[in-house]
Amino acid sequence: MDDDALLAEQMAYYRAGAAEYDRPYAEREDLQELLAVMDDLPIAGDVLELACGTGQWTALLAVRAQSVTAVDAAAEVLALARARTASPAVQFLEADLFEWQPPRRYDTVFFAFWLSHVPPTRLPDFWNTVAAAAAEEEVLANEPAPAALRRLDDGSQYRIVKVFHDARTLTDDLTALGWSVRIKPLAGNFIGIAEPPTTAGQEGAPSAAF
Ligand SMILES: C[S@@+](CC[C@H](N)C(=O)[O-])C[C@H]1O[C@@H](n2cnc3c(N)ncnc32)[C@H](O)[C@@H]1O
Repeated sequence: MDDDALLAEQMAYYRAGAAEYDRPYAEREDLQELLAVMDDLPIAGDVLELACGTGQWTALLAVRAQSVTAVDAAAEVLALARARTASPAVQFLEADLFEWQPPRRYDTVFFAFWLSHVPPTRLPDFWNTVAAAAAEEEVLANEPAPAALRRLDDGSQYRIVKVFHDARTLTDDLTALGWSVRIKPLAGNFIGIAEPPTTAGQEGAPSAAF
């Protein structure tokens, strides 16, 4: 069945109800707690926010991001978002996410309370839009080590070694080598401190920070 009419009515609901939208955020403690999860998310660089609504999350993203491009189809909620988010780093864009194609890639793509509004039949296209917006590494196959392709502005290309460590495996690998290691996730990356195995006469060996 064609879902155009349903999606149009969904849009009409958000446009007509813009002035009511923030009420639950003011009244519900669980939503206030949810907003605090932002502190634990790997938000960095140029951020794309999809279906930004009245900007409840946009203002928080702006604190962490270099820039935020916030997209929503409802002019009425965007007006409230603009009023809430007075940051020169934030650009609001009125667009239908079922039509809109990202003109560039972003370091972070963020959306809250949006996925449930995407009809299942449109999910593959939606995720394609997200993929087109997300900065990606050009991973190379069949190299002697895990590798990726990097380009310079003059068009030249270089292969580099690129190992996508995850904190758990790296901790296990270093521990197996006798190192003491503490790794902490930070903004989508991680930082770590590792102390080498001590051998007799080598007490106080310097640690490695990475
Ligand atoms: C549940 S609200 C989420 C708003 C905000 N992300 C938040 O968490 O408070 C859903 C948002 O999706 C927007 N929306 C609905 N259909 C849309 C479409 N086709 N394209 C872009 N935005 C749309 C609505 O205007 C509304 O702001």
